[in-house]
Amino acid sequence: MHYRLAEQSDIDDLYHWINDPDTRAMSLNINEIEYDEHRRWFLEKLSSDDNVLVMALDNKQKIGNVRFEKRQSAARVSINLNPDFRGQGVGAEFLVVSEKFIPENWHLKLLMAEIRPENIASIKTFINAGYRPENAPENNNALDGDIVVYVKSCPQIILKRRAKPE
Ligand SMILES: CC(C)(COP(=O)(O)OP(=O)(O)OC[C@H]1O[C@@H](n2cnc3c(N)ncnc32)[C@H](O)[C@@H]1OP(=O)(O)O)[C@@H](O)C(=O)NCCC(=O)NCCS
Repeated sequence: MHYRLAEQSDIDDLYHWINDPDTRAMSLNINEIEYDEHRRWFLEKLSSDDNVLVMALDNKQKIGNVRFEKRQSAARVSINLNPDFRGQGVGAEFLVVSEKFIPENWHLKLLMAEIRPENIASIKTFINAGYRPENAPENNNALDGDIVVYVKSCPQIILKRRAKPE
């Protein structure tokens, strides 16, 4: 796999993956997304300094997308794979490699993911990528339909970059 930042030409791929029924069912907003709404959303995120969108590709196809959204010293992480590449265990490596695209000036302390408790594949993927359940009361009594939060402290790759002399 290789990786790069998302570009405008990725708009239709993301649109198809985002409206895949499994993706919608596991999202915080389960409603189908209209193309115009997606277009507005995508272009806004692409041009925002508080968002980083990473694409994974193999030689011929796009494999998926990871997005980091800055919130103070934390970043919210989401992942959506091309449905053709799900179930092959590629998500965890993608999450870890994507961390190198996080800008230094975010001064990141924490990564966090909000996951539906029934999304077992996602929970395992985030655990495999080094995330742990947040120690919060809502995590201890998560019922079906609630959200669980998984966190990871500032990734090694960023700590190493910070430790380098100027
Ligand atoms: C969620 C997602 C990122 C997972 O990535 P993936 O690489 O396809 O993950 P896999 O399906 O290979 O599963 C990862 C692990 O979960 C396990 N798993 C998957 N479904 C499972 C299930 N229903 N019950 C138990 N284990 C399950 C796999 O066996 C694998 O285990 P392993 O790490 O021990 O080998 C990907 O399926 C996706 O993009 N889904 C749609 C969007 C989405 O849900 N995003 C996350 C929102 S928070």
